[in-house]
Amino acid sequence: MSPFTRNLLVTSALPYANGPIHLGHLVEYIQTDIWVRFQKMRGHRCFYVCADDAHGTPIMLRAQHEGITPEQLVERIGKEHQADFADFNVAFDNYHSTHSTENRYYAQLIYGRLMDAGLITTRTIRQAYDPVKEMFLPDRFIKGGCPRCGALDQYGDACEACGATYAPTELKNAISTLSGAVPIEKESEHYFFRLPALAGWLRAWAGCDHIQPEILNKLNEWFVAGLQEWDITRDEPYFGFEIPGSPGKYFYVWLDAPIGYMASFQNLCNRTPELSFEEFWGTGSSAELYHFIGKDIAYFHTLFWPAILHAAGFRTPSAVYCHGFLTVNGQKMSKSRGTFIKARTYLEHLDPEYLRYYFAAKLGPGIDDIDLNLDDFTNRVNADLIGKVVNIASRCAGFIIKYYEGRLASTLPEPEFYVEAVAAGKSIAAHYENRALGAAMREVMALADRTNQYIDTKKPWVLAKEAGREAELQAVCTQGINLFRVIMTYLKPVLPRTATRAEAFLRDQPLRWESRESPLLDHCVAPFEPLLTRVDPKRVQAMLDAEQGPGVAVPPPKVPGKAVTPPAPSREPIAPTIAYESFAAIDLRVARIVAVDDVPEADKLLRLTLDLGGETRTVFAGIKAAYTAPDLVGRLTVVVANLAPRTFRYGVSEGMVLAAGPGGKEIFLLSPDQGSKPGMRIK
Ligand code: MSP
Ligand code: ZN
Repeated sequence: MSPFTRNLLVTSALPYANGPIHLGHLVEYIQTDIWVRFQKMRGHRCFYVCADDAHGTPIMLRAQHEGITPEQLVERIGKEHQADFADFNVAFDNYHSTHSTENRYYAQLIYGRLMDAGLITTRTIRQAYDPVKEMFLPDRFIKGGCPRCGALDQYGDACEACGATYAPTELKNAISTLSGAVPIEKESEHYFFRLPALAGWLRAWAGCDHIQPEILNKLNEWFVAGLQEWDITRDEPYFGFEIPGSPGKYFYVWLDAPIGYMASFQNLCNRTPELSFEEFWGTGSSAELYHFIGKDIAYFHTLFWPAILHAAGFRTPSAVYCHGFLTVNGQKMSKSRGTFIKARTYLEHLDPEYLRYYFAAKLGPGIDDIDLNLDDFTNRVNADLIGKVVNIASRCAGFIIKYYEGRLASTLPEPEFYVEAVAAGKSIAAHYENRALGAAMREVMALADRTNQYIDTKKPWVLAKEAGREAELQAVCTQGINLFRVIMTYLKPVLPRTATRAEAFLRDQPLRWESRESPLLDHCVAPFEPLLTRVDPKRVQAMLDAEQGPGVAVPPPKVPGKAVTPPAPSREPIAPTIAYESFAAIDLRVARIVAVDDVPEADKLLRLTLDLGGETRTVFAGIKAAYTAPDLVGRLTVVVANLAPRTFRYGVSEGMVLAAGPGGKEIFLLSPDQGSKPGMRIK
């Protein structure tokens, strides 16, 4: 192996196994995958591992809710996650689960070593307990009035209205969201990791370029505030690993989650004889270890995790790379705005290459949030990928096929231009290495612009019509196609599928970073097939419509009109004014819900059978989180009766039920007054 070959182990954060992958998650997996593909193209030995984060209370409760075991839930969601990643061309070398034998082994090993080092202490603590469900309540399962501003229905740790943070015991009229019972306080003995004992070591570690400057600033604030001992225990019932020697006590999910990085790598080693766990995780390891994460989980990865690795006798990360959060059209992703877009919904409408490029174009090395503006997305992808890159090949390929049987000339007419394009690879590679993906994309597009200008100047379409200029035409197209090949080399980490198609067109070996140095000359290319099609704005809209959820229109939630008004929850903007005629065209009817069926294959949908006064209709409504059949059967509601039928995978929806609320559990079917009868028109 060449002495310049590096050994790299790269991870992305482990997604929770209780929900689908969405476009926010994909910022991270796409960013990491691009970086890993780049390293591999450069000839380095690089492994990219990940896993599902399978433990914790929300996963246990969701399994209960679905009437299955946590193992079954984790198994199903794990498969969905892997299918989503594969379809976005995120190419893990291994994908595992934290609920695995490897992870149990390393969690127990590390815990034992921390014990031996005197870094675990025990303390009895008082916590909120649900006497009906018979379990301790994590903060987010307690709701009540904010002790500071009085806003109702706030979570146990922080108020969304005024931003106050507090202990769940301070909430007014607190209830358990699991049973509705008033929580009591109960004592239990917990284990704590003595993080403060490693403060000195952590300060030194943090100062050595292992983290980005923005995160170092945060860390310094935490150091000044003083590090706290970390509670690593949860009481049963809990889905996780039982602590050896402590029946009924479990490791907190965040203890074994990062250990999942090791477990996934161990699992890869188990089936790859030439790989050694020790070589990558041993204290003297010369391999590089990188964790890509979102900024919300920096605390876990830049304090607890390095401290635990160090204390337990393993190597520590070479770097932890944080990224910012995704917003859609300038706002936090929101279910009610239909911008909480699932990976699968995107895939049903759009090519993953578009999103990979768009994220690359927007990502830098820092922790700034990135915005997916859907108009900008359409324009940018079409202008850059179709208008610039693919255009080069399609402008040159036709002539080479038609007049030269696909054969490229045996020399380049402008070798200096080609050498410059090859030389640009140096700074583009430096940008990739530094995760300045946006800067890399700008340089590549500048090269594509220059190539198009070259073709504009040489006008092959004119040469093709003039007798005696055949050699010139072949030369110009050979230059163009070779520059296209260099550009595709630079884009290959971002656009793996397009690159594969380009390799087939070029009849070339898989493009590697160095292979660009020698041009393809006196070589036959294949007939040109479109490499990538334009983004169709209609498909973008269809994707948004699909997330909006069928069968339920969501008008703006009401702003509470109480005397002590907390800052208003952000209200959806009112839609543009419509003419009276447009309103009058909507036929609103009273309907009685006569039957309700679950749609098991849809997250949100119920199938309602409605009586519209003699006429029966089927309508799908996205209200599963808020209502069950007994809530609904027999009840009156308002329905849009003249809406064009819409076909879904599960059947045809013949109307729309009106509801209000931000979505999820907080969605309220509109009910007409008592004197109403099915079929009555609402005016
Ligand atoms: N299970 C933990 C991570 C454990 S790692 C040992 C977790 N899971 S998560 O599913 O909530 O998030 C997985 C990753 O996706 C995190 O790095 C998180 O920051 C990232 N993102 C989740 N939503 C995101 C956005 N809206 N935007 C960008 N990244 C986001 O945290
Ligand atoms: Zn408040």
